[in-house]
Amino acid sequence: MRVLRAWSEAQGVAGLSLTPATGESMPAVRPGQHVLLAASEDGPARAYSVTGGGEGASTVDIAVRRVENGVISRFVHEDVTPGSQLWLERPRGTFTPPLSTDRPVILVAGGVGITPFIGYLRALRNRPERPRSITLLAVFRNGLEHPFHEELELLAGELPELSIRTWYSQPSPADRRGRDFDALGRLSLGDLDLPVAERPLVYLCGASGLMDDVTEELTARGVPRFDVFREDFHAAVEVPRDLGPAAIRFAGGGEPIDWTPADGSILQAAERQGRILPSGCRVGQCESCAVRVVSGTIAHLGEDPADDGCLTCIAVPIGDVVLDI
Ligand SMILES: Cc1cc2nc3c(=O)[nH]c(=O)nc-3n(C[C@H](O)[C@H](O)[C@H](O)COP(=O)(O)OP(=O)(O)OC[C@H]3O[C@@H](n4cnc5c(N)ncnc54)[C@H](O)[C@@H]3O)c2cc1C
Ligand code: FES
Repeated sequence: MRVLRAWSEAQGVAGLSLTPATGESMPAVRPGQHVLLAASEDGPARAYSVTGGGEGASTVDIAVRRVENGVISRFVHEDVTPGSQLWLERPRGTFTPPLSTDRPVILVAGGVGITPFIGYLRALRNRPERPRSITLLAVFRNGLEHPFHEELELLAGELPELSIRTWYSQPSPADRRGRDFDALGRLSLGDLDLPVAERPLVYLCGASGLMDDVTEELTARGVPRFDVFREDFHAAVEVPRDLGPAAIRFAGGGEPIDWTPADGSILQAAERQGRILPSGCRVGQCESCAVRVVSGTIAHLGEDPADDGCLTCIAVPIGDVVLDI
């Protein structure tokens, strides 16, 4: 795909509009889905929620927050300009709020976690049938770090079903409560009047602490956990420091990887040592990185996946291992 436009969406957040290379068709997107983006087909890829466009439009749009020392976000911020060619894999993901439903929809966003909801709300614009009530609760640091601020105001005007409540955790002197944001501090449901009795469907995207807290508040109010869906942008997994060093070998050949707990997951260790393994979400959700363990033992950090294999993005070796790659 070719970058048609690149702009600053907010402080530290770059917006990109990508258009297919000649002859390629525009991918279909279910609002809320993400694409995998890389500098080239054989380079490391990262997931970015689609904020607009897709089939029927001329571009696919994303917004990328700069992460300190981040390989791909830094590349996007420093090296990508209009005309750059990037590799994009077709949209995927199941974090897709319903476009029409009798049940209320509650969206909770933290910072750049607003991106899947921008794609969703933009898609609702053109639909005759929409959910009968949509509540967006969003927290940003301040007005400078508030991506899609104007767009959200426009959407609130265009979608009568939509109500938005915004928190700023550290407003800057120029930010005005009542004009730029509604509440100060961390996002909390407090005594907000939410349609919990009408079996809302809840979608969360933001820091894991925020999502955990909101889930707890919602379940305390009687929302069943199975009606709460979350998108993790980052798996902040702690590798136990007492694990010993290990060698990771590949059945198909190639240089082994020397692993220590400081390397993080098997996927991260391999990438740091120049071996690019298949990956997608990098948070244990999509199974793009699944691989069979030929010998040795691995452990998953966090929840074990349903299948037996090894998800390299959230796995560490317990002693030397051979992977079927
Ligand atoms: C389904 C999905 C959708 C996503 N959508 C978006 C989106 O719309 N916009 C967006 O900006 N990002 C999004 N992300 C996050 C994105 O995929 C990358 O993880 C992020 O851009 C960092 O990649 P990197 O290569 O710059 O950093 P890496 O090189 O992967 O990591 C560098 C360092 O930063 C840490 N790190 C990585 N990611 C984060 C993070 N998110 N927060 C804090 N520390 C981190 C790593 O642990 C590592 O120490 C999404 C992730 C998923 C799984
Ligand atoms: S990359 Fe998605 S599960 Fe590992």
